[in-house]
Amino acid sequence: MSDSVKLSYNDQTFDFPLVEGTENEKGIDIKTLRAATGLITYDPGFKNTGSCKSGVTFLDGEEGVLRYRGYSIEDLCEKSSFIDVAFLLIFGELPTKEEQELFNKEIKNDSLVDEDLKMILKSFPKSAHPMGVLSSLTSALIAFNPSSVDVDSEADMREAIIMLMAKFPILASWTHRKIKGLPLNYANLSLSYVENIAHMMFKRPNEDYTPSPVVVNAINKLLILHADHEQNCSTSTVRVVGSSHAGLFASVSAGISALWGPLHGGANQAVIEMLEAIQKDGGDTKKYMAKAKDKNDPFRLMGFGHRVYKNFDPRARIIKKAADEVLSEMGINDPILDIAKGLEQEALSDPYFIDRKLYPNVDFYSGIIYRALGIPTEMFTVMFALGRLPGWIAQWLEMRKNNEPIGRPRQIYTGHTRRSL
Ligand code: CMC
Repeated sequence: MSDSVKLSYNDQTFDFPLVEGTENEKGIDIKTLRAATGLITYDPGFKNTGSCKSGVTFLDGEEGVLRYRGYSIEDLCEKSSFIDVAFLLIFGELPTKEEQELFNKEIKNDSLVDEDLKMILKSFPKSAHPMGVLSSLTSALIAFNPSSVDVDSEADMREAIIMLMAKFPILASWTHRKIKGLPLNYANLSLSYVENIAHMMFKRPNEDYTPSPVVVNAINKLLILHADHEQNCSTSTVRVVGSSHAGLFASVSAGISALWGPLHGGANQAVIEMLEAIQKDGGDTKKYMAKAKDKNDPFRLMGFGHRVYKNFDPRARIIKKAADEVLSEMGINDPILDIAKGLEQEALSDPYFIDRKLYPNVDFYSGIIYRALGIPTEMFTVMFALGRLPGWIAQWLEMRKNNEPIGRPRQIYTGHTRRSL
C-alpha cells in the first residue's frame, strides 16, 4: 500500500504523504499543497477536512461506533458515572479510587461563584434564552477569576479545569431558576456531581429535596452520551477560539454559542417544538413527512440526519430505550413519544430518508426524557452543554498541549476585482 498520494496539475506531479490513525482512518497531509502547487482545497462545511489529530474520541459513522478514549459509549453508559467519564475524557484514563476522591473533593471545594455574578444574571430579561445567558455568564467568569493559565503548568491547567467543572453546573442551574423565578442556590456538598445538578435545578426554598434515582440515572446517562463527539461544530469552535491562545472559559463560552443553533445542540429543543406542533395539528405525521421531503419547503425533520453517522447514531439507540424506561418508571404516558416513534417508523421505510441515510440522531428522543423530568424546553440545550463540557475541555487541552497553530482557513475570493472610485 502506498504511503503517499500523487496529484497531477499543469503537467507536474506532486507527492503528498498519507497520515493514518490508530483505527486505520487515512488522510492526505496537504500542509505543503499551496507552497508546492499554488492551490488550496475548497471544502465548505469541512465535510472532508481533518482539522487535527486527536486521541479523545473515535467515531465510525458507517458502523455506528462511538468510543471515548477507547471505551464504548454503551459500556460507559451502563457502568460509569458522568464525573468518571469527564475525568477519562480530560485526563485520558478512568480515575483510580484516590484520583476519583480527589477530583470530586476539588470540584466541591470550588463549587461557589462570586455573588456579583447574580447582578449580571439579574440584568437579563426573564424571557432571555438560557443558552445566551449561559454563554454570557461563562464568559463573565473570566472577569471574576482573572489568573492567566499557563498551559505548560499542570497545576494551572488543573485549577482552570476544576474551576470550570465546578462552577458551570451552578451557572446552568441558575439559568433554569431564573426562568422559574426561584431563588439562586448552591450545591449540597453531601451529594454527587449529578445529584447536585438535579438539586440545584429543582430544589424549592421551602421544602427538602432528595433527587430520585430515576432522575439521577437518566441525567447521568444523558450527560455521558453528550460528553464528547470529536470535531463537531461547537468543539471545533472551542478549538479554533483556543488556538488564538484565548483562555479556556472564553473558548467554552464560544462553544456554547455554537451549540445553541438548531442544526447542532439546539435541535433537541426544535424536536420537541416540532412534535408538539404535529400533535396540535392533529398528529398527522404523513403531512410532516411530506413537508420534510418537499424541496420547496424549508421544514426539516428535526432530530434526523447527521453529518457523520450514515447508518445509525448509537446514542439515539440508547436514548430511545432510556426514554421508554424513564417514562414507564415515572408512570408517564406522553403522546409525543408515540408521535416520535411513528415518525421514526415512517422515515425508516421511506426511500427519501433511506437514500440519504437519514436516521434519528441523539436529539430525537432526548427531549422526551428532559420533558418527563420537568425540564422546560428552552433548557434542553443547556442540558446538552452540561454534558459536553468535559469534551470541550479535553479537546481544548489537547489542542494547546499539541501546540496547534492558530485556526485560520483560506478562501476562494468571488467578489469584485479591483475597481476605481
Ligand atoms: N429532514 C429532511 N431532509 C434532510 C434532513 C432532515 N432532517 N437532513 C438532511 N436532509 C437532506 C438534505 O435536504 C439533503 O438532501 P439533498 O441531497 O436532496 O439536497 C441531504 O439530506 C443531505 O443533507 P445535508 O444538509 O447536506 O447534510 P449535512 O451533513 O450538511 O447536515 C444535519 C447534517 C445534521 C445538519 C442535517 O441532517 C439536519 O439539518 N438535521 C436536522 C437538525 C438536527 O437534527 N441536528 C442535530 C444533529 S445531531 C446533534 C449534534 O449536532 O451533535
